[in-house]
Amino acid sequence: MSDEPIEVEQNPFRAGLESTRTPGPTSLVIFGATGDLTRRKLLPALYNLSVDSLLPSRFAMIGFARRDKKDEQFRTEAKEDVAKFSRRSVEDGAFARLAAATHYVRGEFGDPKAYASLKKSLDSLAKEKGTGGNRLFYLATPPANTREILENLSRAGLLDESDGAGTARVIIEKPFGRDLESARALNRDVQRVLAEKQTFRIDHYLGKETVQNILAFRFANGIVERLWNRECVDHVQITVAEEIGVEGRGAFYEQTGILRDIFQNHLLQLLTLVAMEPPADFGADDVRDEKLKVLRSIRPFTPDEAARFTVRGQYVEGAIRGERVPGYREEDGVKKTSETDTYAAARFHIDNFRWSGVPFYLRTGKRLARRVTEIAVGFKKAPSLLFDTAALDANALVIRIQPDEGISLRFGAKVPGPANQLRPVLMDFRYGTSFGFESPEAYERLILDAMVGDSTLFNRADEVEEEWKLVTAILDAWGEGKPKLVAYEAGTWGPKDSDALLAREGRRWRRL
Ligand code: BG6
Repeated sequence: MSDEPIEVEQNPFRAGLESTRTPGPTSLVIFGATGDLTRRKLLPALYNLSVDSLLPSRFAMIGFARRDKKDEQFRTEAKEDVAKFSRRSVEDGAFARLAAATHYVRGEFGDPKAYASLKKSLDSLAKEKGTGGNRLFYLATPPANTREILENLSRAGLLDESDGAGTARVIIEKPFGRDLESARALNRDVQRVLAEKQTFRIDHYLGKETVQNILAFRFANGIVERLWNRECVDHVQITVAEEIGVEGRGAFYEQTGILRDIFQNHLLQLLTLVAMEPPADFGADDVRDEKLKVLRSIRPFTPDEAARFTVRGQYVEGAIRGERVPGYREEDGVKKTSETDTYAAARFHIDNFRWSGVPFYLRTGKRLARRVTEIAVGFKKAPSLLFDTAALDANALVIRIQPDEGISLRFGAKVPGPANQLRPVLMDFRYGTSFGFESPEAYERLILDAMVGDSTLFNRADEVEEEWKLVTAILDAWGEGKPKLVAYEAGTWGPKDSDALLAREGRRWRRL
């Protein structure tokens, strides 16, 4: 495979956009405008969209939060955040365009008066900037605030789309509920004030270029689809491994754990994209119908099955890149006797025609040896008639989501020389070398899609509930001590029980 950069005249992220994908006039309101998510992800995403001229020509942004601030102070702080966290360095001219569109409204989330002043600001910006009354609300707020914000927006008439009032859309951050029951209750609350087409439940993994490429790779290439089934595939491994610990979010993690924080959403979403059938079209419902079918075909665990086929771990002190790091129970905001999971693994079966009998192994953990997210499809071995294939690793197709984004195929090749000896080698595609420019960040794509009203890369209500159904069965079993929480040293690849989960079935996790 050549490493020559592929000639592209224009950034394909832009060239790929049809005219219907150019967002119309919009006012974006960010709730939680002084919080971590806004500062690290949303403001840099808006800046990069602005640099690429992808923001609407008539655009306004209002930061809404509890702290007292003037527009000017919010703009200055926003610039500092962009300078710190943006993938591209800040240029004064480019930032000035975004700053001119940026405003701030102070308010308590539960105070109706604050929504009245928000409405006033939106109305005057609609006149001044010609935003046409189109509103996009981004709830970058803790889940506990979701209901009251939605209710207050609704009471203030801000979610109303009737009588040419413009569009009203809401992006809701994860975690969306904490089990099946609470997710259902939240969906009911959301549906009381919003239609599904106004609702954008975010899972930022879906905005990653490499994640979207799973579908392109599968459905645009003649050779792939023929191999993508139980006839050829032995098993699938999906890994979301992080080096970082809980990063000052100990108190949040005590309420959450990794099964809820990463497994329920990011990992299961990756699974659906790998396993789904080709959709009839790329319409939001066509894609989400197929993903839903995968989730519904996964065999849910009984408590005894959860004890056998899931692993629940928590890191203890260890070393990452030669530096000592504390154990989870030593982190701020964490109980000394905490039973919270920072590692989760499971083996699923998807009971449908394509995947019957093919195990899917999923794992995610904090404080593992390396940050890597990948999907590895392991193929069945050739018979050992002519070569000793038993000694050779099976062919594997690896989709690397991050870092070193790309796709590689591992196969056996003859070692040069008189002996008939084989060795595994790699055929490698890397985004960086093939395309020669950086991919946009997930939040850039997702904010843009929400402005356009395209919810393909957002989770539908039934999809989220189906994810929670699977995860709640695991949580219930874990609540009964099935299986018990096991320790793993920070900087390793997780608990021994996780290796045993695969070893029992004659397989092993890939070495990453
Ligand atoms: C978030 C989780 O959703 O995803 C974090 O809350 C996690 O715990 C993060 O670190 C990982 O995202 P990314 O894009 O860095 O892989």
